[in-house]
Amino acid sequence: MIIAIDGYSSTGKSTFAKLIAARLGLIYLDSGAIYRAVTLFALQHGYIKDNVIDTPSLEQDLVAGKVEISYNRDNPEGRAEICLNGVNVESRIRLLDVSNSVSPIATLPFVRNFVDSLLRGYGPMGVVMDGRDIGTAVFPEADLKIFMVADAKIRAQRRVDQLVAKGEKADFDEIYRNVLERDYIDSHREMNPLRQAEDAVVLDNSYISVSQQMIWLGWVLKAKFDMDF
Ligand code: DC
Repeated sequence: MIIAIDGYSSTGKSTFAKLIAARLGLIYLDSGAIYRAVTLFALQHGYIKDNVIDTPSLEQDLVAGKVEISYNRDNPEGRAEICLNGVNVESRIRLLDVSNSVSPIATLPFVRNFVDSLLRGYGPMGVVMDGRDIGTAVFPEADLKIFMVADAKIRAQRRVDQLVAKGEKADFDEIYRNVLERDYIDSHREMNPLRQAEDAVVLDNSYISVSQQMIWLGWVLKAKFDMDF
C-alpha cells in the first residue's frame, strides 16, 4: 500500500504519517528530509555561497553512486534516519543553514528528478510518504492520497507553541509571515508545485486533535477499502 500525504507546511503531516505507518506496519518516509540532505551536500561541498547556488557543479556531482542518500528504519532506537554517504544526518539537516537554503534547492528540476527516483524505490515496500508532490508527481498511482490543510494563523500559533516549549523565542507576526511565504513558494514553484491531487481526500485539521484525525482516517479506510482500522 502507498499512502501519499501532501499539504502546506506545519499542518502536522509528519506526525500523522508516522502514526499511520506504525498502525499499518508501513515504512514512513519524509521526502522533505531528502531535499534537506541534498541541501546539506551542496553546503558541504561549497556549492551554496552567499545564497547563490553553483547549479552546474551541483548537477555534475549529484549522481547516484557519488551521492548516496539512504533511509534506514532499522536503527537500534527504531527511528527512521537519513544518511548522506553513510553518515546519519537526521539532526544536522534540521539546522538553520539547511532550512534557509532548502527551498531554492527544491525548485531545481535535476534535484527533483534525483529525489523522485530515490523516493520511488521505496514504493514496492509499502510506504506512508509525506511531502508536497507525492500524490501528484512521485506516486500518482498511490492507493490513498491525503491533502492536509489548516488555517494559516493556527499553523503559525502551533509553531510558536513548539518553539516556546523548547525554550526558544517566538514572534507570532514573524512566524505568520514565514508560514504565508512558504505557502507561496511551495505552491508557485514551476516544477511539481504543491497542489491537491484530484483524487485526494482533504483533511482540514484546524480544529481537530491528532486522535480525532486517526478516527477520521478509520472512516476513510472503511469507506474506500472496507478496511477495519
Ligand atoms: O517539509 P520540510 O520543511 O522538511 O521540506 C523541506 C523543503 O523541501 C521545503 O522547502 C519544501 C520542499 N519539499 C518539496 O519541494 N517537495 C517535497 N515532496 C517535500 C519537500
